[in-house]
Amino acid sequence: MRNAMVGLIVPAAGMGVRLGVGMPKALYTVGGQTLLSHAVRAAVESGVVSAIVVAAPPGLATRVLEFVQPEIPADVLVRVVDGGVSRQSSVRAALTAMSSDIDVVLVHDAARCLAPPRLFAEVAAAVQAGRAAVVPGLEVVDTLKQVDRRGSVVDTPDRTVLRAVQTPQGFRRGLLQRAHDAATGDEATDDAGLVERLGQPVYVVPGDESAFKVTRPLDLLLAEALLAARAADEGHR
Ligand code: CTP
Ligand code: MG
Repeated sequence: MRNAMVGLIVPAAGMGVRLGVGMPKALYTVGGQTLLSHAVRAAVESGVVSAIVVAAPPGLATRVLEFVQPEIPADVLVRVVDGGVSRQSSVRAALTAMSSDIDVVLVHDAARCLAPPRLFAEVAAAVQAGRAAVVPGLEVVDTLKQVDRRGSVVDTPDRTVLRAVQTPQGFRRGLLQRAHDAATGDEATDDAGLVERLGQPVYVVPGDESAFKVTRPLDLLLAEALLAARAADEGHR
């Protein structure tokens, strides 16, 4: 696996209902560029990716390609497919379109648009070093409660054994394919969850706070602030 070729799948087909900006959030602009452009640029900057497949919102594949193309160097192959009704079906569609010479697949949400290039490289390296499924994870800061349907607390799990997982998640291609082939229903919120259902181990590497998912309006303020800080930092160099 050490020299295995790495491909990137970007699920970007979601409607962004919780963000509420009236358009698919991957095509919403922060810091002068779409969330999707930021996400793809960081992946390219990592230097580990040789092919990219983006799952676009239905009917928007052509526009998506226009946004993404400027970020892609000549030696990186890019394809855009129509996404599905769920994240899981969008990833499955993209995986089908991934070129056959790719052995390691990173799956990265367009919504985690500020994940640093370093994170892509670390996840890919862990897969190439022999871990078949790798997820970045952070310690949980809130106390989490398990509740029943009426809202009563059932349990308070020990926070120290919990991790909030992010993307990019990395997989041996064959394992990711098997996990999606075996999946029933459309409810998995990440790909590692499907691998776990196969009974296969998933390894956690340190995540990064800037890989947070732009989900609700407050996240946009954080993204704008972080991009402004990065731009100021560049200016000082
Ligand atoms: N996604 C996708 N196809 C879908 C649903 C989601 O490719 N049918 C992608 C989103 O574009 C996003 C990532 O999966 O990059 C994570 O999903 P989420 O944050 O839930 O995005 P949305 O589904 O767009 O947001 P919401 O659930 O608020 O509608
Ligand atoms: Mg969603």
